[in-house]
Amino acid sequence: MHATVALTGASGFIGGVIAQHLRGAGWHVRGLVRSPQQAQKLQDLEIEPVQGSLESPISLLDLVRDCVGVIHCAAAIRGARREDFYATNVMGVSNIIKACLAQSSPPRFALLSSLAAREPSLSPYAWSKHEGELVLAREAGIIEWSIFRPPAVYGPQDRALLPLFKLLRKGIGIQLGPSQAKFSLIHVDDLAKAVLHWLKNGGPPFHTFELDDGFPGGYSWNDVFRLSNPRLRICLHIAPFMLKILGKTNEIFSRIFGYVPLFTAGKVAELLHPNWVCDNTHITQTLGWAPQISLQEGLRRLFTSDRLMASQRD
Ligand SMILES: NC(=O)c1ccc[n+]([C@@H]2O[C@H](COP(=O)([O-])OP(=O)(O)OC[C@H]3O[C@@H](n4cnc5c(N)ncnc54)[C@H](OP(=O)(O)O)[C@@H]3O)[C@@H](O)[C@H]2O)c1
Repeated sequence: MHATVALTGASGFIGGVIAQHLRGAGWHVRGLVRSPQQAQKLQDLEIEPVQGSLESPISLLDLVRDCVGVIHCAAAIRGARREDFYATNVMGVSNIIKACLAQSSPPRFALLSSLAAREPSLSPYAWSKHEGELVLAREAGIIEWSIFRPPAVYGPQDRALLPLFKLLRKGIGIQLGPSQAKFSLIHVDDLAKAVLHWLKNGGPPFHTFELDDGFPGGYSWNDVFRLSNPRLRICLHIAPFMLKILGKTNEIFSRIFGYVPLFTAGKVAELLHPNWVCDNTHITQTLGWAPQISLQEGLRRLFTSDRLMASQRD
């Protein structure tokens, strides 16, 4: 039996996949969840649930008790203002670090940040991920930490890119950024494997790792269209001014109808940024991890699992 690993965000897209990989590798996983329903789901997956939140210090002490590593994946993803992200993405890091420091033998700590942290001025989300990294570096004391900065992550259960890939499969490409923009992608299984690699093999602490699927120089929208579906029938390029109007309108609607928006002016600023390209050199040299899943292979897996889920629903 492996030692215990604490995981936040286990009910989310990336955390859920990391949890499966950890269980598959034999680790005892303890996951933080916010509701009894999610606690039951974790139990069904043989993951020990701790009910609480990043705002509740007592639950965080329960979460990290006697564990050898913490994988901090939970974050606020939706919101239009810095206040929407601050409590979770900045103070949340501080709270879980305090819980780790209260242990007699503090665990190693991995923060799932984002490539967005590279450009904190672009959006409140990017700012919060950057601040979360700073809080970790400032408050971690003797804790050995690593930061992972993935670019856009895709895979089953992803709500952001999956709809675009589904349309692409039907021959419809929607371009949401400038033609000259370059960006990296990573399949969620590759990301999970990088984190597991860190957990199992160690590596020097206090490093920030960017990581992607290794596509040289990053993708243009055209590359994504060409590799996803060479027989594209329709290609819609949403002009930047239109994206800005849509983002702002959604923010206004969110205030009127009382929901927390995903598509905002900040998200549009991220989409319009010309360079979201990663470089694996540092992580490969430091941790020995290298990506395995190309975009074509990732999409093949995505649609196989999608068909499987659809057939299970029927
Ligand atoms: N998806 C991407 O493309 C991408 C790219 C780069 C970086 N990232 C980073 O990867 C991490 C995971 O993202 P994701 O796409 O998996 O997001 P997600 O599906 O929205 O999952 C977020 C998770 O965080 C939990 N959470 C949110 N606020 C919390 C709080 N106050 N206390 C405890 N748990 C809380 C959520 O719990 P509930 O289920 O209760 O809401 C959920 O489990 C995040 O740190 C994100 O910044 C994601």
